[in-house]
Amino acid sequence: MYGTPILLGSLLAGHTYAHTFIWGVFVNGVDQGLYKGVRTPAYNGAPNGGGYSNSPVKNLTSIDIRCNVMGDIQSPDTIKVKPGDNLTLDWHHDIRSDADDVIASSHHGPALVYISPDPPTENSFVKLWHEGLYESNPFPQPGKWTTTADIAKNHGHMNVRIPKDLKPGFYLIRAEMIAFHEGEVSWLDNPMRGTQFYPDCVQIEVTGDGTVELPEGVTFPGAYNYDDPGIVYDIYCSTDTKRTVTTPCTTTYPIPGPTVWSGAWAETAEVPLGPVTGGTTAPPWSTWIKNSVVTSATFTDKKSVTVVGTLTYQAKWSSTYATPAPATKRW
Ligand SMILES: *[C@@H]1O[C@H](CO)[C@@H](O)[C@H](O)[C@H]1NC(C)=O
Ligand SMILES: *[C@@H]1O[C@H](CO)[C@@H](O)[C@H](O)[C@H]1NC(C)=O
Repeated sequence: MYGTPILLGSLLAGHTYAHTFIWGVFVNGVDQGLYKGVRTPAYNGAPNGGGYSNSPVKNLTSIDIRCNVMGDIQSPDTIKVKPGDNLTLDWHHDIRSDADDVIASSHHGPALVYISPDPPTENSFVKLWHEGLYESNPFPQPGKWTTTADIAKNHGHMNVRIPKDLKPGFYLIRAEMIAFHEGEVSWLDNPMRGTQFYPDCVQIEVTGDGTVELPEGVTFPGAYNYDDPGIVYDIYCSTDTKRTVTTPCTTTYPIPGPTVWSGAWAETAEVPLGPVTGGTTAPPWSTWIKNSVVTSATFTDKKSVTVVGTLTYQAKWSSTYATPAPATKRW
């Protein structure tokens, strides 16, 4: 499937122009540092000393839909928070800077945030926030989608507040952007297209003396299916400014997954942010791996894109919490 140099080259081009993941987390406006607490996709499982994958997941039954490629691999750091704290997840494309484009301007879609005990169990992901097509402007003004008109315009900042009185313990925040620029067709029917999912997980430890337990939630994979409303969706009608779309236009969009938990905060206002601390760049995983959507990866020679080997990664999610091993390297 990925065997020809031409296809590999085009996948590499895709890496250069589109994709996104979380580069850091602010707690009440204070930056925790590059990748701190973030299960950076493919952050340390690959050869050449690590790196990131900012590519989408398209297979809804793959374990990658939970916390992205190699999402079972813990970050060495866990972010300590209290109930009521404001987290700002800092999404970027290829550099941690306000000048970065965050996600390509064509990648319209919703954004969602879930929380689960760490490690996740059956039905443990509870939705804390979501936003989709949040303004259906009258033609010829394009509708406003969260990924492009909210998160990208706000320098990649996605806000979520730790639920009031949440019981202390280890949790994963699963944040996600969904892009529909090729989402008018199911990936099952056309593997060259299909909706792009960008999930990413952050390790937190909730402290304090809260007593509120999470309700039953959903499982990843399992929460989304190709025939759910809001998973395969034609974006082009809602963003049309030139009457190129002739079919009747849907102006509503059903965000996938469960409803937002009543214990989540209704407001997720951005708090003032202090400076970014630590590094702002890292080597992309895609400089040596060209397979963007699955845990089975193909290594190639950097210059000639000659295939030099393959790796199949089997995620091993533990059923009990394990203290992360200390960092062996730093960016
Ligand atoms: C999608 O993921 C599932 C579960 O890992 C796997 O069995 C299936 O082969 C994948 N589909 C494709 C087309 O790669
Ligand atoms: C979080 O943000 C809200 C809304 O701006 C604010 O009222 C609250 O005090 C903040 N929480 C903390 C712990 O600073």
